[in-house]
Parts: sequence; structure tokens; C-alpha cells
Amino acid sequence: MRTVRTVAELRAALAEPRRNGRTVALVPTMGYLHDGHLSLIEAARKQADLVVVSLFVNPTQFNDAADLDAYPRDELRDAGLAQDAGADLLFAPSLQEVYPPGFTTQVRVDGPLTDTLEGAHRGADHFHGVTTVVTKLLNMVGPDLALFGQKDAQQALVIRRLAADLDLPTRVEVAPTVREPDGLALSSRNVRLAAEDRERALALSSALRAAQDALAAGTRDAATITLAARAAMTPFDVEPEYLALVDPEDLRPVGSVDQETLLAVAAHVGPVRLIDNTILNPNGRH
Ligand code: PAJ
Repeated sequence: MRTVRTVAELRAALAEPRRNGRTVALVPTMGYLHDGHLSLIEAARKQADLVVVSLFVNPTQFNDAADLDAYPRDELRDAGLAQDAGADLLFAPSLQEVYPPGFTTQVRVDGPLTDTLEGAHRGADHFHGVTTVVTKLLNMVGPDLALFGQKDAQQALVIRRLAADLDLPTRVEVAPTVREPDGLALSSRNVRLAAEDRERALALSSALRAAQDALAAGTRDAATITLAARAAMTPFDVEPEYLALVDPEDLRPVGSVDQETLLAVAAHVGPVRLIDNTILNPNGRH
């Protein structure tokens, strides 16, 4: 695996394989890779001839300067993990390479996809930062396929919308959330959890499980399911920032879980803000 830092180097590395008809997959990341990222790289490996992993901690999507400062970084470790998972190229551009002096363009998805849930709490600019950098990364790499995680369900929806609205030629695929054995969704931010907070972080996956259990017991009413999910967080002394049952396509709140419904939760645990989600399916197991 090679590491490249400029768009020119990246395009040079991809030119020949592409002339030879080889397909390219992109896995965009902000680094500090974990098994969630690696599952995306492995899925990419199975579907394309060449796998590019991008590593760029994108400042424009951070609404909290302290979160950006504390974001964990370890490029050497990431390079080893990406290589072992099957990446061919690591694209790790500098801030200046992505946002040269004079940069002023934004790509925005507007409406409920970006101003509800994460957008309501972090500000819609968070997603505008994501869509701008993802558009740039897709234009830099020109992949046939790009992979994203269901862990960031709203981000995945926003990116699907972006790709459809702008006729992007890249196929967008969303892969399942990878969890620790005890249920905690993997996240680069988990390393910032002290031992006690690591225990409390189980509040989120416990809430999701409680909702699944309520659904399995026959409850369809969204308010009742939400209450059960919130109650499961109380023993962990964790208060959700939001906990919402919404349509998995347009994110509008639902009153009753009569078809597949997205349950999304966010909470502060110690110094870290965590998110998690699951799809509730009343018509069978999920
Ligand atoms: P990052 O948080 O590094 O995540 C990179 C990709 O890994 C995203 O598609 C995310 O949904 C996925 N991912 C994270 N945790 C996961 C888990 N536990 N299981 C499965 N997939 C998981 O998301 C971003 O970076 C950025 O917003 C980015 C898209 C790179 C744009 O800057």
C-alpha cells in the first residue's frame, strides 16, 4: 500500500489502472481506524479492483473546536491497519491540499435530512461540511463505488441524497454497524472514554435493545417505545440529547412503528458525544 498526499499524485496512481479498466472503490475516513472502518475496507476489497482509503480530519464538519482538537490521530497505525484490511492506496492530504487559500465553495443538502437530529443539535453546517468534503473526495478519486457506515445513518442518507441530486457517477453503499461484544458501537471517539464512562456508554446500545424488546413484545406506539428506550438509559446515568423514532428515508417523526423505522440516539458520556441507531422492523427480525 502506498500513501499519497496530493491530488496530482493520487490521479497519477489511478490513471493506469483505470485505463486498464480496473474498478476503484473509496472508503472516506477521518482516521484512527477501528474494526468499523476496516469492515468497509474489506467490503470494498470484495467489490473493486483497487481500494482507496482517504484519511482527512475535516475541520469544516466540526461544530466544536475542542472536539476537533481532541480528535485522535495516528497515521502510521492507520496505514498499517488499512494495508492489512486490503487497501491499495492511502490518500492523506494536508489541510492546504483540500482547502487551498481562496477556497469558498459549499455543497449543501438542505431540509430535514440535514436540519433534524444531528443537524438540530450540531447545526446543519456539520452536514454541509460533510457533503462539501465528500463531494471533493469523490471528485479527487472518481471511484466507481464509495462505502459508508450505517453507524452514521443520517450522514449515509445525506450522502445518498447528494449523489442522487448531483448525478454523481459513484455507487453509494452503506454497510452495517460494527459493535464491541457488549454492544457499544465502535467509534474513533471511544478511546477518549475513561473506564467508568466506557461502562456508561452502554446506555446507548441498551436503549436500542430496550426498544427492540418493546417492539418484539407487541408495542407499536412510538411514545411507548421511546419511553422504554429512555428508561433503559437511566441506570447508566446518561441523558439522551435526542432519542427519536423517524422514517428511515426522510427522517420525519413517526407516531407508530408499523413499518421499518429508524431509532436514533445521541448522548454525552463524559467528555465525548456518542451516537447510535438501529432499524426497528415490526414485520420480522432484523
Ligand atoms: P469517520 O467517523 O472516520 O467514519 C468513516 C466511515 O466509517 C463512515 O462512513 C462511518 O459511518 C463509518 N463507521 C464509523 N463507525 C462505524 C462502525 N462502528 N461500524 C461501521 N461503520 C462505521 O464519517 C466520517 O468519518 C466523516 O464524516 C467522513 C465521511 C470521512 C467525511 O469527513
